[in-house]
Amino acid sequence: MPVENTILICAGGACISSGEESVKSVLEEELKKYNLDEVVKVIETGCMGACNLGPIMIVYPEGVFYQKLKPQDAKKIVEEHLLKGRVVSSLLYKGPTGTIKPRVKEELPFFTRQVKIATRNLGLIDPFNIDEYIANDGYFALSKVLKSSPEWVIEEIKKSGLRGRGGAGFPTGLKWEFTRKSAAEEKYVICNADEGDPGAFMDRSVLEGDPHTIIEGMEIAGYAIGAKKGYIYVRAEYPLAIERLNHAISQAKKYGLLGENILNTDFSFDIELRIGAGAFVCGEETALIQSVEGLRGQPIQKPPYPAQKGVWGKPTLINNVETLANIPVIINKGAEWFSSIGTEKSKGTKVFALSGKINNAGLVEVPMGTTLREIIFEIGGGIPNGKKFKAVQTGGPSGGCIPAEYLDTPVDYESLTKLGTIMGSGGMVVMDEDTCMVDVARYFLQFSADESCGKCTPCREGTKRMLEILDKIVEGRGEMSDIEALENLALTIKDSALCGLGQTAPNPVLSTLRYFRDEYEAHIKEKRCPAKSCKSLIAYRIDPNACVGCTACARACPVNAIDGKVRQTHKIDQQACIKCGSCYEVCRFDAVKKVDSVDLLKSSAV
Ligand SMILES: Cc1cc2nc3c(=O)[nH]c(=O)nc-3n(C[C@H](O)[C@H](O)[C@H](O)COP(=O)(O)O)c2cc1C
Repeated sequence: MPVENTILICAGGACISSGEESVKSVLEEELKKYNLDEVVKVIETGCMGACNLGPIMIVYPEGVFYQKLKPQDAKKIVEEHLLKGRVVSSLLYKGPTGTIKPRVKEELPFFTRQVKIATRNLGLIDPFNIDEYIANDGYFALSKVLKSSPEWVIEEIKKSGLRGRGGAGFPTGLKWEFTRKSAAEEKYVICNADEGDPGAFMDRSVLEGDPHTIIEGMEIAGYAIGAKKGYIYVRAEYPLAIERLNHAISQAKKYGLLGENILNTDFSFDIELRIGAGAFVCGEETALIQSVEGLRGQPIQKPPYPAQKGVWGKPTLINNVETLANIPVIINKGAEWFSSIGTEKSKGTKVFALSGKINNAGLVEVPMGTTLREIIFEIGGGIPNGKKFKAVQTGGPSGGCIPAEYLDTPVDYESLTKLGTIMGSGGMVVMDEDTCMVDVARYFLQFSADESCGKCTPCREGTKRMLEILDKIVEGRGEMSDIEALENLALTIKDSALCGLGQTAPNPVLSTLRYFRDEYEAHIKEKRCPAKSCKSLIAYRIDPNACVGCTACARACPVNAIDGKVRQTHKIDQQACIKCGSCYEVCRFDAVKKVDSVDLLKSSAV
């Protein structure tokens, strides 16, 4: 029977965690009930990107985009859309104003400005089905490459201007050339899938949604440098990615696209997974190599670089997931096409994981040079609840915060570095007016201090000392000399740490000191947190003029610190209050106020 409708369901991490599986199972039950299961094809795809709209479903041939689905909505879609041909408008995207506008995915503002290269197949194909990858030009680049010389491949990648998407932005073609030129019988290709930046999930989405592109990218790299073996170093926290990769590897082998004599040529290449235990430092290439060899994942001094001496002492090419996902497209469409996208020094596109205080959290791929304002306000839909934008953190724990005055900065490697942050692997955490920038710096430093492998003293001890100072400041115990001590420590650690983890760990502190020094000073001199976020420096009080005695706050308080009867003004016992903010969250009358604790102390002293 011919298929009349195809339904794509997003099976990215966010959609799965918001109930995609139960939506799908109701959908399948309903299709069976109406004998539609043979004419309606249901496909689970990788992450479509619009993560806060999940679970998402697209019904073809019309391409109608349904969002925020509950299991019972699947029933409605079958009964109305599939049986009666009527679009279920209550399930369409509503937009920030609540009015229904776009019916199809392509009309959603979140998607219109994106240019998808690395994420081209996400949300489009079934990651479990190699035929769907092949139908979308999959493995064509590999076959083209096998008919060309390795030198041609390297030249093409060099000409494309592709730079590593794992953080450092090193020219990919050049790295391939170095590794090719390292004379050795055996060489290796490693896909670095250890993504560990807080707020980043670009690589995971590509691995889960389009595993064959990584296999193809690695094979092309292997052919170019003269390697027969590749490892994908993927963290154990990504079980779905591991499952899909394993499946893809065995499918590719079955099709003669991986293993011995690929596509009946002399080229043989095999891929093995190596599961990382989730240490951030293992993303650093020398630590990763140690870990692949079964040793403790700690960095070692460079040079020699992995291109000279990597796994088992052999020349090794390490590339990030997103870098590799670009390769087949560059080969298929040509270096010139790729380098026509982006800026002078940063070619192509970049995938960002938008998170934090943003309306449209998710995965976006845009041409290099797109401004922060376009990404955050046009694609990301701006800041929720009418709050003001305060800063955006890029580059994870190795990066820094950019304030509102630089929102028109085009995003590329150089301009972000000029602002004191980095592109990193593409995490973008948006912050609103309620965010304390000192606390943000402390959060990222805490991460680096916890993840320090302890091998070198500046990173092991230095980050801890910086953290102690930041703790003092956010708790209102800081002194002005602490700022100088922080800066001295930061610069010393940057200069003397063994690897990239330590060398970049002070960046969040340095960048917040650069743009938000007044907030540090307010914490120290006035014992106030300007964002009213640091627990030690704020208190909650109930405004007697606004309180209607609804009791919601008292019921929400986990420590019974709120006293009051129905329709009478309530009061918070400051001694018992643990400042969890539950009362503030539930009050519908704006009666619970956050105040500086110094003011409360003053008023109670009067
Ligand atoms: C502490 C630390 C963690 C890193 N984590 C990752 C990671 O998770 N994924 C990644 O691709 N690169 C990571 N990198 C960068 C890699 O060491 C390396 O530069 C990169 O994988 C090279 O690939 P590329 O040239 O394709 O970007 C990390 C670097 C440091 C210092």
